[in-house]
Amino acid sequence: MTLWWVSHRLWRHRVTGLLVTLAVTLLLMLLATQSLQPLSQKPVVEKRTEHDKALIRPKPTSHKEERSRRKGGESSTTTDSPEDSPASTAERMRRPPPPIVFLKTHKTGSSTVQNLLFRLGEREQATFAFPYYTYQFSYPDRFRAEFVDELPEGSSQFHILCSHMRLDLAQVRQVMPQNTVYITLLREPLRTFEAVFNYYTSTVPAFIKAQKAADAAAQAAAAAGSLKRKSALTIFLEDPEAYWDPKDITDGLAKNPMCFDMGLNSQQWNRSWPGDLARLEEAFHLVMIAEHFDESLVLLGALLGVPLEELVYVRLNVRSELSVATLDQAGKEKLSAWNALDTLLYDFFLQLFWEKADMYGRQRLSREVAQLRRATERVRKMCVAREGVPPGELEDLVRPWQTNTATIMGYQLRTNLNQREQGFCVRLVLPELQYHSHLYFQQYGRDMRSVPTD
Ligand SMILES: *[C@@H]1O[C@H](CO)[C@@H](O)[C@H](O)[C@H]1NC(C)=O
Repeated sequence: MTLWWVSHRLWRHRVTGLLVTLAVTLLLMLLATQSLQPLSQKPVVEKRTEHDKALIRPKPTSHKEERSRRKGGESSTTTDSPEDSPASTAERMRRPPPPIVFLKTHKTGSSTVQNLLFRLGEREQATFAFPYYTYQFSYPDRFRAEFVDELPEGSSQFHILCSHMRLDLAQVRQVMPQNTVYITLLREPLRTFEAVFNYYTSTVPAFIKAQKAADAAAQAAAAAGSLKRKSALTIFLEDPEAYWDPKDITDGLAKNPMCFDMGLNSQQWNRSWPGDLARLEEAFHLVMIAEHFDESLVLLGALLGVPLEELVYVRLNVRSELSVATLDQAGKEKLSAWNALDTLLYDFFLQLFWEKADMYGRQRLSREVAQLRRATERVRKMCVAREGVPPGELEDLVRPWQTNTATIMGYQLRTNLNQREQGFCVRLVLPELQYHSHLYFQQYGRDMRSVPTD
């Protein structure tokens, strides 16, 4: 009925239609020539317009067009494996993925997963549950439903929530639909803590104090004619209680940071702890493990019904080698004791992860991991000219946010990309803050709010 009406209308207004088509084509050509200019030649004065140019949608595609395009692209990547055919059938019938909550834990590799969800959400025209202010849900406060910005006009529900928060399940459930899939990412606790310490040395009060103590010790040593210098992390671990204040919530990341992010008691074990952990196990459909990242992504794809080709990634928010500290055995033991709850948490979910992998089938898993790696390699070759590029050599759009204690590296894209490739590649390497503000702008038609300074 509607179709008939549309075609009738179209026929009646065919001249106008022709003119409109012509105008749209001209507009698209104009956009294409604009974005074909190599990124490096663009002036980087006005942020907003820069974002818009490089991030403009190649074409306004509807859900339907988008999916048929995907179906077409998929045929070139299907393999001869018999187990792949159900997946392709499923994809032809593919429904949008379920609503997703990704608990973005600190310094675990979660920016890479967030970028993947940003890209997925943008393709699916998902509605993001964004923070009312900036790009975090009032971290380190516990999440509250009121921290979320309003539903944009025309949306009936949120689809993706993946900004930094300290978890409160009951509050998140007030915001997200019932059929939401909950996922998070954990990393080996000692490496996580080392990364947290390094990245937040000048923001977490306990770490600031340790840094001051380290500077003072170095000065005293120098006055005595010694060049020996202990790192701030070593000083901190010698007596963490001296620097850490259990009553100060901004010290949350200074002990068991992953437990803290998951909303668990991160200060000390008590009788409620195992029960709290069991509730998390029940709530989360998948806890990914950074040390088995590709395996995690394959399980994620299966959970969301997203084909492997859409899970390609490059590692984001990676520190320069020079920023990675090394510890001696004694230091490692102290680190382990200080973060014992994180170790319990990690070991628990690591075991669960392998149980999930067994259920999925180890052979199938390793075959699909290989498939994912091949797809990822293809995409990296297509997009990336240079990786591990220091921030000074990157332009604003793709330069990761820096702390003054760690150097975060980025990617330089190839310059010979066509418009569609460029749109894809820029997103692939786009740092968290830039992508966040781009999507926010796209969803609300205004810039992200900054936190008011009262
Ligand atoms: C354990 O700690 C949590 C969080 O601090 C608290 O809510 C709970 O009451 C404690 N349980 C016991 C048995 O002390």
